[in-house]
Amino acid sequence: MQVPYNYLPFQFANPKPFLEDWKRLISSSEFTLGPFVEAFEQKFAAFVGARYCISTNTGTDALILALKAAGVRPGDEVITVCNTFYATVGAISAVGAKPVFVDCDDRYQIDVRQIPGAITSKTRAILPVHWGGCLPDIERVAEIANAAGIPIVEDACPATGASVNGRHAGSFGAVGAFSMHPLKPLNVMGDGGMVVTDDFSLAEWMRKYRNHGMVDRDHIDFWGVNMRLQPFQALVASRVLDTVNDLVRIRNRNARQLDAAFEQLADFVQVPKRPAGHVETYQLYMARFVRRDELLRFLIDRGIEAKVHYPLPLHLQKAAASLGHERGDFPESEKQADELVTIPAHQYVTPEQIDYVIRTVRAFYNC
Ligand SMILES: Cc1ncc(COP(=O)(O)O)c(C=O)c1O
Repeated sequence: MQVPYNYLPFQFANPKPFLEDWKRLISSSEFTLGPFVEAFEQKFAAFVGARYCISTNTGTDALILALKAAGVRPGDEVITVCNTFYATVGAISAVGAKPVFVDCDDRYQIDVRQIPGAITSKTRAILPVHWGGCLPDIERVAEIANAAGIPIVEDACPATGASVNGRHAGSFGAVGAFSMHPLKPLNVMGDGGMVVTDDFSLAEWMRKYRNHGMVDRDHIDFWGVNMRLQPFQALVASRVLDTVNDLVRIRNRNARQLDAAFEQLADFVQVPKRPAGHVETYQLYMARFVRRDELLRFLIDRGIEAKVHYPLPLHLQKAAASLGHERGDFPESEKQADELVTIPAHQYVTPEQIDYVIRTVRAFYNC
């Protein structure tokens, strides 16, 4: 049996509805921003429960835009985690700020207890990542940030469809950034991103900055750049957004089946805690496994396209050399890098395939 990681061939097996949407776009010639992009922005803001959504061409640019809007300037410090995708820290670096790492907890999310100790007079933002589509203890992050008067910029890139106590990812901070990379729960056929905020003046500033600072064709208020979402992708996003709640539900069903089986294998597998009130997107279904590298080979050899996100934490990457970290600085992230496996649990994985994954893991551990 094959259990593929990449679901795009299934998701876009029928391109017809998208081609129909694109015909409308082509006949309108609305190729830069315009009504299709605006309609998607309004729909996404309503989905998240935020006042404003400003779309961008990537999630990375959404993070850069969000950090700039939050007032992060060259020389400032931004607190974040080292078990994330490169773009989180790439964005901090792109605005000239210094990433200040804290470790993650055993749910692979920012260890909230470590945030207060990382705050200095230079801290200009706290950037929790909803790693794998799961929120950290975001309510506690918000309490700490509010008490310190520091804005939160949420890296909600993998978290469209995730929530805590009914409140959507991205709506807890001053600004939330999302990605529509093809393997995110809300995806497009290429790249796309967006920021959300409830703050009118931040929204206005971001709307202008992502479009050259323009107020109209002949006037700019300040120097900006082009971070615009392509209308072709806005149409894809709008259609896929209608499916997000359903696909998250199916992924949760798959995750529950995996969790229940792995909890029986506690000598070999450690499943993260799933606190009440949290809805995860399972952009990555991750657990920690004994003899990880051998297991990974075993699964792949048997048609299960398991992965590791990621084998080297950011503080040990060459790109982070100037920060002066060494192995042992963030033990939880390092342990996870050594033990985590990501198992396909997306919306096209059936209960039979999940059962096959479970049987294969059991066979590996002889139990
Ligand atoms: C946590 C996280 N942050 C940021 C990004 C960057 O998004 P994009 O690829 O759309 O630039 C990604 C995904 O790619 C991500 O997983």
